[in-house]
Amino acid sequence: MNVGIIGVGYVGLVTGSCLARMGNKVICADIDTEKIDKLNQGIMTIYEPGLDEVVKAGLAETTLRFSDQIESTVEESDLIFICVGTPSDESGAADLKYVKEVAKGIAASIHRYKVIINKSTVPVGTTRIVQKIIEENMPHFHEFDVVSNPEFLREGSAVEDFMNPDRIVIGSDSQKAIGLMTELYAPLKAPLVIADSASAEMIKYASNSFLATKVSFINAISNICDNVGADVKKVALGMGYDKRIGFEFLEAGPGFGGSCFPKDCKALIKIAEDSGYDFRLLKGVMEVNEAQQELMVSKLKNLLGGLKEKTIAALGLSFKPNTDDIRESPAICIIKGLLKEGASVKAYDPVSNENAKKILPEIKYEKDAYDAVKGSDGIIILTEWDEFKWLDFEKIKQTVKNPLILDTRNCLDPQLLRKSGYIYQGVGR
Ligand code: UDX
Repeated sequence: MNVGIIGVGYVGLVTGSCLARMGNKVICADIDTEKIDKLNQGIMTIYEPGLDEVVKAGLAETTLRFSDQIESTVEESDLIFICVGTPSDESGAADLKYVKEVAKGIAASIHRYKVIINKSTVPVGTTRIVQKIIEENMPHFHEFDVVSNPEFLREGSAVEDFMNPDRIVIGSDSQKAIGLMTELYAPLKAPLVIADSASAEMIKYASNSFLATKVSFINAISNICDNVGADVKKVALGMGYDKRIGFEFLEAGPGFGGSCFPKDCKALIKIAEDSGYDFRLLKGVMEVNEAQQELMVSKLKNLLGGLKEKTIAALGLSFKPNTDDIRESPAICIIKGLLKEGASVKAYDPVSNENAKKILPEIKYEKDAYDAVKGSDGIIILTEWDEFKWLDFEKIKQTVKNPLILDTRNCLDPQLLRKSGYIYQGVGR
């Protein structure tokens, strides 16, 4: 099938290149010409495991192209995916300005039947708004359908998630559009949930907010564990065997971050409010999350008897491992908290140093973990990158001022570290 993608961010690039890999002819369009030039040369604009190969294979087989021409992309495509960003506005609601602009652009170039698919996470009702914008901005009427098709991929395993989805949600009441979408996704052999567009849009918010609730729940439990001397890892294990609960999203830590959870929770609180419902549960989830980040700063402060003039080695900057994404990263927020308390910070992340420099220029960036910890009063693990689990802590002990670790990701072995003379503290254990 001929597919057009508008907006080449995480979702757009993964969707476009994976659809090309499935045998479709795909054009990915973006107004950022610099980005398009890079991608046409096979240079990646984001770090995502396995994406490089999929993009290069698509370019080599000419099933994948990148373009800065929205008009010709729409003309050549039967299915057009809107994959632009929907940042939070001041009220917490998802800002639809990019989605609306793209809808107008698409409208101007429709000359035959098209399916326009919304993959961006948008408030309930947006599919209908996009439908209306296109209708109003088409120079001549042509039949078209707008479909909601939310994306559930996780950064760090996006290609794998796209190719092996737990489910595919298609929100539309047009049989013609549902038929084409079903055909497009048939090779993935995933369960299909066909719904009206409002329910499809709601599925995305409800899923992400539920997962965020799980994380805040286990973080709250971890704080009680700290107070009563229980181990949250064992608690999560014991809970997870219950099939109704499951093991996933029960890792206690510094709070959730990333481009989706905080934004989607805020947006759902706003959607609820606008609909006349006060979503107190989800407000609590956000409160627990913010307090969890602050708690990490207090924990380190208590361990060191104050942070003034202390040098802290911060290991990890991205919001989770296997990504260079630092948007809403707890690591960044915690480092800012440490600076506010008068500490100086030396940081290292395997792939996010450059991104972090742009928003946090006041700290020192090191080329590896060993350089970062040298001469430090305390080490704080902020992202559970595999390479931090295998560091030579015996060697590190010789280079630090003080052998002390706050492991906000519970990814190190407390017994081993304590045995070799470290003061170790995790989260809820
Ligand atoms: C999420 C959803 O998982 C995905 O379906 C959706 O499409 C986009 O949002 P992503 O933002 O890539 O994906 O990250 P995810 O792996 O879900 O993690 C979100 C945050 O929660 C991270 O900061 C992570 O460290 C944190 N987390 C996750 C925990 O603290 N504990 C856990 O047990 C799981």
